Order: sequence, then C-alpha cells, then structure tokens
Amino acid sequence: MNALVTGGAGYIGSHTSLALLRQDMDLVVVDNFSNSHPEALARVKALSGKDFPFYEGDVCDATLLDRIFSENAIDCVIHFAGLKSVGESVAQPLRYYENNLISTLRLLQAMGAHQVKRMIFSSSATVYRSDSPMPVDESAPLGCLNPYGWTKFMCEQILRDAAVADPKLSVVLLRYFNPIGADSSGQIGEDPDDIPNNLMPYVAQTALGIHKHVNVFGDNYNTPDGTGVRDYIHVSDLADGHVAAIAYAMEHTGSEAFNLGTGVGYSVLDIISAFEKANRVKVPYVIGPRRRGDADAVYSNPDKARRLLGWQAKKTLTDMCRDTWSWQQKNPHGYRTGS
Ligand code: NAD
Ligand code: UD1
Repeated sequence: MNALVTGGAGYIGSHTSLALLRQDMDLVVVDNFSNSHPEALARVKALSGKDFPFYEGDVCDATLLDRIFSENAIDCVIHFAGLKSVGESVAQPLRYYENNLISTLRLLQAMGAHQVKRMIFSSSATVYRSDSPMPVDESAPLGCLNPYGWTKFMCEQILRDAAVADPKLSVVLLRYFNPIGADSSGQIGEDPDDIPNNLMPYVAQTALGIHKHVNVFGDNYNTPDGTGVRDYIHVSDLADGHVAAIAYAMEHTGSEAFNLGTGVGYSVLDIISAFEKANRVKVPYVIGPRRRGDADAVYSNPDKARRLLGWQAKKTLTDMCRDTWSWQQKNPHGYRTGS
C-alpha cells in the first residue's frame, strides 16, 4: 500500500504519516509549507526510522501532480492539504475557495489520468447545520456558517459526484470533530503560526506563561456549566482512523461519510480543569463575551465508524492533556524552537 499524503507536514497529516509508517505502509508526501514546517517531516522520519519521498509544492499544480503520480505507484490519496482558519476564510473567501476546491479537483483529475481509485478526504464536523440535534450522526442535514465550512461541504459534494460517475472510485469522507493532543513522544504536535484561535493550544501556551489567562468565550450557553461543549479527540486516535479508512476503501467502492469523534462532549471549563489536573499546572482564566458563530454543544455519534471501519477512539481526556503539555514543554515555540 502506497499512500500519497497531501499536507503531510501539517498537524493531522504528520501524525497520520507516522501512523501509516508504523503500520509498515509506504507513503509519498506533498506539502507547500504554507502552514507547516519541514522539521515536522524530519521528526516523522526520525520517530518511524523510515524514509519516504517528499515533494515541496502546491497540490493545485497539475504539472506537479502528474509528476508525482508518474514517479510513484500510488494506491490511495489522503487529502489533508487545505486552509483551515474560520476567521481567515471570512476575510479571504476567494483564497479559501481557490485553495481548497482547486486542490481537490486537480487531485481527482490526476487520479483519473493515472487510474488511482481511492481517496480519503479531510472533512469536518463544521459541515453539519449548527441547529442539528446532538449527538449528530452522518445522516443529519448539512449547512455551514462560513466560507471554510462551505469549502468542505462543496468538496464533499464534488467527491460524491465523482464516485457516482466512476463506479470504480472509492471515496471516504472523514468528518473530524476537535482534534487535540500530540504524539506521546512530544516530538510532533500542533504548531499554530500566530496566537492560537483554538482552545487547547491556547490553554497549553497559557500554562507555559505565554498568555496571562485563557479567555473563556461565554458562560451563558445552554450547557451544564454554561461554557461551550465540544467532542475533543486525540490526534493519534484520529490518525488511526485514517488507517482504518484505507482498509475500508480497499474493500468498497462509492462514497461514505464517517464521524471521527469520541461521542463525549467536554466544556471549556472541563478542559481547563482536566489540563490542570493531568499536568499539575495552573491555567488562569477569565470569562469573556461569546465568540461569534459558536454553537452551544457539538459532539458526535461515532457508531458508524465503529461498525463499518472497526475503529473507535481509545485515548482519554487525560491522555490528550498530558500529550499536549509534553509537546508544548519540549517545543515552547513549536518547530521553530531552538532554530
Ligand atoms: P494544517 O494547516 O496543520 O495542515 C494542512 C497542511 O496542508 C499544511 O502543512 C499546509 O502547509 C498544507 N497545504 C495547504 N494548502 C496546500 C496546497 N495547496 N498545496 C500543498 N500543501 C498545502 O491543518 P490540519 O489541522 O492538519 O488539518 C488537516 C486537514 O483537516 C485540513 O484540510 C483541515 O481543514 C481539516 N480539518 C482540520 C481540523 C482541525 O481541527 N485541525 C478539523 C476538521 C478538519
Ligand atoms: C473551530 C472552528 C471549526 C474548526 C475547528 C478546528 C469556529 C466557529 N469553528 O471549532 O470550524 O473545524 O475550530 O480548527 O471557529 N474557546 C474559548 N476560548 C478560546 C478558544 C476557544 O473559550 O480561546 C471555546 C469556544 O467558544 C468553543 C471551544 O472553546 O466552545 C472550542 O473552540 P475551538 O477550539 O476554537 O474549536 P471550535 O470552535 O469547536
């Protein structure tokens, strides 16, 4: 099995690349480092003790893709490459539509030209309508609130249509909930470029003293403690979900969507107190106003992935907090630490 991993230097791509190598699969990585660092790939190689071909470039570049597919016998594409900041997508919608849609179209065209029939796509829980009843399952109606979400919605539709047109194609749409944590080595992890938008990296940086306190975005949501509830999943569990998805794609054709979550919701205050307890650190916080567009509670029904992929999340919230802290302490400035 030889997988082409687009965006393999990124947060989820690097952990999935490591999981594939640990399963003795071969891979080829392409990334333009628009939101990542070459050091991530060096560490994946060091942790796995294995090498793999790497192409630096843009997945929207048809000539580059033709070269990659010509030079490597690819069995399956795992398409992580994409822009992912919700706020940035509101400010720069065309850049988001261009990057996320064109990369997917070019990949499908190159796969068609080179007879590659399997695609695992990084989708998101954000494709579900915000008023969906929780826990949400894959049959819930879709609808988005921002351009980032719409890019995922549209890519899903493009991929479903492609699978209808080519009965030999196998498309697996993985809808991630909230990935956090890091490989237990603390060598690879999430490396936000700027001040983090997401909760967990902000909590970890606050514990380290980089920020004075966490701003809790609202405590008057319709949740047990009033703060937002999400389905946090360890990134290594998520990575294993891709290994299971490849096995599924080997056996099936057509398109299928799967939630990758734990099925359990935790509030912002749950996360802060779990982080303090797991790591024996203080995480000061201040309750502030709500962030626009945030839902009360979003958590998955993960049964379909358990039944059809034979996959379920194994790691606990304590594991997620401990591994995030290990990565953060060893790499206070991410992959730039020490350089
Ligand atoms: P990331 O930004 O860490 O990784 C994305 C990688 O893709 C980066 O290395 C970036 O340099 C690369 N990239 C982007 N556009 C490219 C292009 N045109 N050509 C080549 N490389 C390109 O993000 P991540 O958190 O690892 O997310 C991976 C995928 O999962 C994304 O598609 C994202 O939208 C999706 N997703 C992420 C989350 C999350 O919370 N992290 C949740 C749901 C879905
Ligand atoms: C956000 C994106 C989602 C994306 C996901 C992963 C929005 C509306 N949604 O999800 O599309 O897939 O990130 O990249 O941006 N919180 C705080 N203080 C903080 C940060 C967050 O209180 O400093 C709260 C939020 O209000 C929310 C929870 O923590 O209740 C989780 O927030 P976050 O990590 O940003 O993830 P989502 O909002 O679920």
